[in-house]
Amino acid sequence: MKVFVKAPAKINLSLDVLYKRDDGYHELEMVMTTIDLADRLELTLLEESEIRISSQSRYVPDDERNLAFQAAKLLKQKFQVEKGVEISIEKNIPVAAGLAGGSSDAAATLRGLNKLWGLSLSIEELAEIGAEIGSDVSFCVYGGTALAKGRGEKIKLLPTPPSCWVILAKPPIGVSTTEVYNKLNLNEISHPNTNLMVQAIKEKNYQAICNNLNNVLENVTLSEYPEVKQIKEHMEKFGADGVLMSGSGPTVFALIQHDSRKERVYNSLKGFCRQVFAVRLLGTNHLS
Ligand code: C5P
Repeated sequence: MKVFVKAPAKINLSLDVLYKRDDGYHELEMVMTTIDLADRLELTLLEESEIRISSQSRYVPDDERNLAFQAAKLLKQKFQVEKGVEISIEKNIPVAAGLAGGSSDAAATLRGLNKLWGLSLSIEELAEIGAEIGSDVSFCVYGGTALAKGRGEKIKLLPTPPSCWVILAKPPIGVSTTEVYNKLNLNEISHPNTNLMVQAIKEKNYQAICNNLNNVLENVTLSEYPEVKQIKEHMEKFGADGVLMSGSGPTVFALIQHDSRKERVYNSLKGFCRQVFAVRLLGTNHLS
């Protein structure tokens, strides 16, 4: 028996850090949305009680370090599942890129195993379990578009934003989320008004979405890696409607509605950046 699951990447349309909490995490306010750049997972039922994981990508760990492995292990323990699973990951989302690739694989594993192991858990229950694996996993369980608070695990679903192109460019550097948070100077943050982004999405106001793109982690990564800033400036110059770094970076994305502009930005980036993607906003969640 096999289950195939899609694990889409996310981008942050807005990311604000409110304060540092006593548990070491940061209290966040984020607006996230899924995009049509996805890993594909094949889950095969094993009669023996074993979790195996493999991928065609050399950047994907094939052991406990993999969040999908952790997701399977956690579900197995919690619900005393006797059977096992073989997880095969087709990796398309760049790793350590600010696109929640690992978290999305974990979330897809939870959704897939819910079927394969016949657990009949609700999406809400899976999202709660996901929060034990990583801060972005709950959102990835739902997918779509949402306002995320707390550590990132308190999810309020939002309507689908107006459709547009998302051009992503990832410079050849990996960024540690922990380091970015550690380097963030909380006293120097100029906080965005997250509510303006939420309103823009509710009103399906594309221009307002572009005007309110904001990520307070951007300056930390930008000051460290000039190439990230260069990509941003390049996208702006070639006609993107809005440009922002996703998560802790280093991936930068551009929102664009017109096909011809999308071609221009995409082709111009291809010249100096190896990892460039042109995809659509997904917006729809896994409840539907
Ligand atoms: O939860 P996750 O393991 O994905 O987080 C990775 C790291 O990012 C944490 O160890 C922490 O340093 C930082 N982080 C944070 N506050 C959050 C989410 C993540 O400080 N809300």
